[in-house]
Amino acid sequence: MTGTSLSNTKRLLLGLTGGVAAYKAAELARILIRDGIEVQGVMTESACRFIGTATLQALTGKPVFMDLWDASVPDSMAHIDLSRNMDAILIAPASADFIAKLANGMADDLLSTLCLARDCPLLIAPAMNRQMWENPATRRNLFTLGRDGVTILGPVSGLQACGETGMGRMLEAHELAETVSAFFQPKLLQGKRMLITAGPTYEAIDAVRGITNLSSGKMGYAVARAALEAGAEVILISGPVCLDAPAGAKRVNVVSAQEMLAAVKNEISSADMFVSVAAVADYRAIKPNKQKIKKTGGSIMLEFIPNPDILEYVASLPKPPFCVGFAAETENLEKNADAKRRKKKLPLLVANLAQDVIGFDESTLTLFDNEGKHPLLKASKIEQARRLIKHIASLCEKQEI
Ligand code: C5P
Repeated sequence: MTGTSLSNTKRLLLGLTGGVAAYKAAELARILIRDGIEVQGVMTESACRFIGTATLQALTGKPVFMDLWDASVPDSMAHIDLSRNMDAILIAPASADFIAKLANGMADDLLSTLCLARDCPLLIAPAMNRQMWENPATRRNLFTLGRDGVTILGPVSGLQACGETGMGRMLEAHELAETVSAFFQPKLLQGKRMLITAGPTYEAIDAVRGITNLSSGKMGYAVARAALEAGAEVILISGPVCLDAPAGAKRVNVVSAQEMLAAVKNEISSADMFVSVAAVADYRAIKPNKQKIKKTGGSIMLEFIPNPDILEYVASLPKPPFCVGFAAETENLEKNADAKRRKKKLPLLVANLAQDVIGFDESTLTLFDNEGKHPLLKASKIEQARRLIKHIASLCEKQEI
């Protein structure tokens, strides 16, 4: 099966069948469009009982097709024309009835016919009552579709529109949108293992206080997601952050720099790449107090010692993985970044201005490697992470990693 779009913009045919979850498909279309994916809506008659074509048409900016016999399609070949030039078809929601049709190669309306006539990958997001989901007929049909190479996304268990609780809830719009974006990414790191540190570390001073660095973890988590999208196995060693790890990553939670180093040592031997995004605290209290230090009114003295440099440790191993460092500077970005890259002996360093990126969803980055500097103009952190993964993959390919 081939994707045939000529430009870089990915084209998705979004098919809606009859289910309450159709309302989530409207939000899904909105997110996909926002993420730069071209969406063509097709709805079955039952889907129109749940949301109107006008909603999907307004969100996608294109007429929504329903009818196999649509006279506005010049050659009356809507079922062929619509599935051509698509990079994928996603059916969301996919009802039990539609799944049964797909599994049996039936083609009695526009959507089922164009699925049968397609030459691109098919993804489905089932949504149905839990008894319908568990019915042996549905189980058989899904097994058949899996064997036929159809990608099945979800469902999940939870409270259902019918009031029952169980398996059959469609994935949320943002989860489906992430899966679609991941599906469209080139698999540049297939078979590779990437170890990533992310977030801040926290160094205790006493039972309730400590020092830390400002870091939301967003960039490190975006790198983890982009690496997964590119087909890598990802181990994400994370300091304390309020983020969910991307689906598929092995997450190891740590608090202090010493814990982070221990976790890195545990995983490093089998890593092909190490991307050190964490904002590791440079110092820790020499002797953290087990109890809360009482306020006296006077000044107090605390003694700090340097933390180990995790990245420097990994980069100076006898056989280091491909090492990538991050440098958040507040001034003299280029000079400081380049000096840091040389000091830590890194093939690649990603530099940014701390005041421009910490906590934000967008960043402007500059990559420094042996060939010089490569600016990555302002974009969302996930987009920057994808560009970074592409750069890492090309350097690794040259070095036969
Ligand atoms: O803090 P600094 O600017 O030196 O950080 C540069 C790079 O080194 C970052 O990639 C960071 O994750 C890493 N680092 C580390 N261990 C430290 C300090 C920094 O791994 N103790």
